[in-house]
Amino acid sequence: MNGDLLDLEALSSLPDGLMEAFRHALRTAGYDGRILGQAEAIAPRQFDAVRLPLVHAWLARQPGAAPLLARLFAYRDGVPREQAFDVLGREVGGALEACGVFVPDDDRIRCSMRLLPFGRVWIASDDADARHDPVMGPGATTQELLTTLPTPMPARVLDVGCGAGSLALAAARAGAASVTAIDLDPRAVTLTRWNARLNDLEVAAHAGDLLAPVRERQFDLILAQPPFVPQPPGVEATTYLHGGSRGDELALRLLGELPGAMAPGGRALVLVDTAPPAGQATIERIRDALPEIPLQLSVITAMGHESHALAIGYAAAADSTLGPAFAEAAQRYAAHVEALGITHTRHALVVLRKPLPNEPSWAVSVEPRNHTLYGAPLLRRLDAAMALATLAPDDLVQAKVQPPAGAALVQSHPLDGQGPTTFRFVSPGGRAPDQELSSAALLLLDLAAQTDTVAALVEAYAEACEDDPARVKAAVLDFLRKALVSGMLEPREDSSS
Ligand SMILES: C[S@@+](CC[C@H](N)C(=O)[O-])C[C@H]1O[C@@H](n2cnc3c(N)ncnc32)[C@H](O)[C@@H]1O
Repeated sequence: MNGDLLDLEALSSLPDGLMEAFRHALRTAGYDGRILGQAEAIAPRQFDAVRLPLVHAWLARQPGAAPLLARLFAYRDGVPREQAFDVLGREVGGALEACGVFVPDDDRIRCSMRLLPFGRVWIASDDADARHDPVMGPGATTQELLTTLPTPMPARVLDVGCGAGSLALAAARAGAASVTAIDLDPRAVTLTRWNARLNDLEVAAHAGDLLAPVRERQFDLILAQPPFVPQPPGVEATTYLHGGSRGDELALRLLGELPGAMAPGGRALVLVDTAPPAGQATIERIRDALPEIPLQLSVITAMGHESHALAIGYAAAADSTLGPAFAEAAQRYAAHVEALGITHTRHALVVLRKPLPNEPSWAVSVEPRNHTLYGAPLLRRLDAAMALATLAPDDLVQAKVQPPAGAALVQSHPLDGQGPTTFRFVSPGGRAPDQELSSAALLLLDLAAQTDTVAALVEAYAEACEDDPARVKAAVLDFLRKALVSGMLEPREDSSS
């Protein structure tokens, strides 16, 4: 860690009129996600120490104001002072210089804060290289959570461990009626308030441990991305990184507290990185952390990282120049996770819903085939499937189901004509694994695509089996519930409302 932390007191003293002029300059310059999207496509997934020279060179060749601001605010490049002042306006440039945000570097200036477009807001944060305990701005995982935000935005939103307030402000911009943000780090709270002013949005930000500042209150949506890096003995804690010795302790403590702050029908979206001990599934580790009350739980699990890759990633946060401190930290992290028996981690999106009094509880675990966590549209489909799967029999028979779009039944005959013909269910874009089908499952899926309601499906299946509908009904409903949970069937669009 080498840079200095921003002087937040000076930054917070900027008057409202200047904040408005700053916002106006950012908007006029077109400083938004498009320019960062292009720059991030340069040598993706490489460390900054390796890729930044190429990013700087590319941005310097691009015409216009947005690439200049990206160099200054996103990629720590020195830019000619006059050019920056032309884009931001003399008053804004001078005020940022006076409060130490711009640091002179020969005839250029550098910026001591990061300022990134994030969705439809701008977020200022510490440079991740700042000397000690920086406040985290939006990163790749923050972006992942952004894609899960529901529309329309629920009324009362809470962002726990808000960092610079990225998700809180995204929720406020998306129309939440009230947004509350909490962070243990008072610097994060100050930056969240400053970012709310910069974006002309309302967020109530509090300093405190997890949900302590909002005891007795309930929310319709809670967002969190707790720190998840394992902390080796002898490594000084960094608040935004370390989640306990194993890494997931803080996240599990949060999961234990969350349901108490969820309104009936309310939801929580939490990103968790965890390495369950051998023999324990990710969903079991999550469930064990939750209180024993009615809940609807979906755990979407993607690949995490192999332990050495993890150690390298964590060490790069300690020394982004990849120098001697990086080498020492990498070895220390690798030894620590090895001693804990961690060979790889799982990256999971935990979706919790507190059911209304007449709704069922359930838990489902999903491993997307492309190892990419679900965004809001797929979460909605999963929810709709689970809602149908848990209906009482009399309601389920009135529902309409269908195989997911793109699913197919593939018939294979042995080339030599020996052996039976088999049928496989394949669903390249869906959630269900490809699988061989029994003849009963084959018939049911086939009939599901042809019949209107589940009641008609029960009738058609009984007729095909020359049996009585009343006798086959329970078995058909059982199959349908399992098929809805696994993703072999989904609610038909006109039936999910
Ligand atoms: C990984 S960062 C996520 C920041 C932000 N939510 C985002 O997605 O960009 C985790 C945040 O949790 C905060 N934090 C750590 N321990 C906490 C605790 N016990 N209570 C509340 N916040 C905590 C850190 O200060 C940090 O801002």
